[in-house]
Amino acid sequence: MGNPSAIKRCWIAVNKPSARYSVLAIAIVFFFVGIIFWGGFNTGMEMTNTLEFCTTDHEMRDNVYQEYKQTIHYTNRTGVRAICSDCHVPKDWVHKIIRKSKASFEIWGKLTGTIDTKETFEARRMTLATHEWERMKDSDSRECRNCHSFEAMSGDIQKQTVYKKHLAAKEEAKTCIDCHKGIAHKLPRSTTTPTRTSDLTAAGKALLLAVACPHPGIRERPSRASFFSSTSPC
Ligand code: HEC
Ligand code: HEC
Ligand code: HEC
Repeated sequence: MGNPSAIKRCWIAVNKPSARYSVLAIAIVFFFVGIIFWGGFNTGMEMTNTLEFCTTDHEMRDNVYQEYKQTIHYTNRTGVRAICSDCHVPKDWVHKIIRKSKASFEIWGKLTGTIDTKETFEARRMTLATHEWERMKDSDSRECRNCHSFEAMSGDIQKQTVYKKHLAAKEEAKTCIDCHKGIAHKLPRSTTTPTRTSDLTAAGKALLLAVACPHPGIRERPSRASFFSSTSPC
């Protein structure tokens, strides 16, 4: 028969019994096991996205959850609710995996005692919030824009002053989180922050200024004095 063609060689290799099973049979088994694992994995990922999962943790239940329950994203006229994962977990796969791995570190931090009481939570709060601001800034507030967009805002219904602000923001390529910090939770408070501006990175400083200085997009604003003991940041 001479030289078998490439396809034929391949077919023989696939069908050749390895120890007891052909490579093909093994491949088929792997294929189905893969599907089952994939399903289980995704179900697991979905479970961690529910409101219940996010609030089993008592720091979340006692602090951020109570605050969030007072906001428009929990109850509103039309009954569209944004839950924790809508704002905090990306929808697309790659970003979701990255985010989930980081969240696992946060849970690890809890287990090993870095964030285990209200005090340690408050102490870490500015850091956690800053991470979220930076993440949203980097993604151009992708999660907000899963539900909202400048394009879908109606100039007839939205207040003219606000509508104009949004038009300008779009022109200047500003993003939602630039102006809408503290929409679902209280902003981090005094004890949480470095006392001297020199302790901060440039990015941290810019964010703190945005929060501490008067801004119409922010509901509850901590006093400036609580951020910096000495000089006014504005
Ligand atoms: C799951 C969808 C969803 C996501 C995600 C979401 N929102 Fe909303 N948002 C809503 C709904 C629904 C309302 C209430 C609309 C209404 O009843 O007028 C709302 C209201 C608001 C309001 C109006 C607040 C007020 O008091 O009138 C602001 C500001 C806002 N969202 C900003 C954001 C920002 C910033 C993000 C991202 C961090 C975000 N939203 C993420 C659905 C969402
Ligand atoms: C340049 C700052 C700025 C940017 C950027 C910005 N907003 Fe606003 N937005 C405001 C101000 C100011 C108001 C009015 C005060 C308030 O409700 O917080 C407002 C109000 C709103 C409202 C309530 C409107 C109403 O009629 O009650 C929603 C919803 C909203 N913004 C969503 C967004 C979303 C989503 C983005 C990103 C796509 C965004 N905003 C980007 C400044 C901004
Ligand atoms: C509408 C969007 C939105 C929803 C819904 C939301 N968050 Fe947030 N979350 C934010 C933003 C924005 C920040 C960044 C800090 C800030 O501006 O308040 C944040 C910050 C946080 C932080 C860091 C600490 C802090 O307080 O700043 C934690 C923890 C957190 N969220 C947990 C949750 C949990 C748990 C839920 C559900 C019960 C939830 N979030 C629902 C938008 C949201």
